[in-house]
Amino acid sequence: MKKMWTETKVGRITLPHRLAMAPMTRSRANVDGTPGELAELYYSQRASMGLLISEGTQPSEDGQGYLWTPGLYNQAQIDGWKKVTNAVHEKGAYMYIQLMHAGRMSHPENTPHHRQGVAPSAIAPGVQIVTEKGMQDIPVPHELTKEEINTTILDFKKAAAAAIEAGADGVEIHGANGYLIQQFFAESSNKREDEYGGSIENRARFGIEVAKAVAEEIGADRTGFRISPGDIANMGIFEGEQSEDFYRYLVPELAKLNLAYLHVKHSSNDELLTEIRRMWPNALLVNRAGRPLEKIDVDIEEGRADVAPVGAWSLANPDLVERLQQDASLNEPDRSTYFGGDSRGYTDYTTMSYQSL
Ligand SMILES: Cc1cc2nc3c(=O)[nH]c(=O)nc-3n(C[C@H](O)[C@H](O)[C@H](O)COP(=O)(O)O)c2cc1C
Repeated sequence: MKKMWTETKVGRITLPHRLAMAPMTRSRANVDGTPGELAELYYSQRASMGLLISEGTQPSEDGQGYLWTPGLYNQAQIDGWKKVTNAVHEKGAYMYIQLMHAGRMSHPENTPHHRQGVAPSAIAPGVQIVTEKGMQDIPVPHELTKEEINTTILDFKKAAAAAIEAGADGVEIHGANGYLIQQFFAESSNKREDEYGGSIENRARFGIEVAKAVAEEIGADRTGFRISPGDIANMGIFEGEQSEDFYRYLVPELAKLNLAYLHVKHSSNDELLTEIRRMWPNALLVNRAGRPLEKIDVDIEEGRADVAPVGAWSLANPDLVERLQQDASLNEPDRSTYFGGDSRGYTDYTTMSYQSL
């Protein structure tokens, strides 16, 4: 049997195979940040993925970047997520909720409190964001004070506790894709002169403190962390020449916390990925963005990953696992329905059994 179809342990849970559902924002939550009414169906349809990593979920009002994304900072949101995790567990899958603080990748018109976004430094990303009025420039963010940094860490900690109360099997801290934690990591967005900016150690500090706080709250074996080494130009993130050294420092520091997993959104640097594998003793999840289908398990077979989370194909194929096992053809993802809208492109992707009726 191919290694892809063998069990593996991730923190407290044992997965039936090596695929997982990658986190994907779908912008279909209610305006109050409770998961939308189709969320239970959407996630439970994809239960055969084994581990479902949820869409980015804001730990506070400040943390929201996009319209109609869910939160985890009040009781109504906890109760909403409970329904989702129950539905997922009933189908035999596990769910990690991704805690995503968008930082400066936000707009006052997208958040409930309509305040300026927050960031390590008052530097706009120089890109636009979608609002109800269409695309708008992202304004210059408010530079977090040290006190506000502490409050933000506490927000992550509380949201992690809320995720567990909501029945999640763990949380994934979003340190990738140009959002708040990576804004601290990158020189282009972090010009602070205190202990949170400047040297590699200082720029890594915020992310590590968030990870420590969350692990203390819910257990390291229920805490995952996502990174995406490399520049992310469409988010105004340039990590610079020291980028590899940054991750050579960060990964072993996170490894000291004995987290359930590290999740690498991998786009280019195979050498760095191999080094990360060497530096990371626990479960390593590698989402190799844009790989062709025949390479879906390349990192697992070649020993660079324990689990390979899948994004767009799992979005478009509720029964992706069964299709791959039977070598069946796949539904194509429809990009026009990725963000926002109704059941179309969300819960109406067909399964093989439906197609054969
Ligand atoms: C519709 C959509 C929404 C996404 N939202 C998130 C998100 O909320 N958090 C995150 O870390 N990555 C997000 N991603 C990135 C995916 O997790 C994944 O890294 C990316 O799609 C590449 O993997 P793939 O080629 O298997 O799709 C999103 C991707 C898509 C397609």
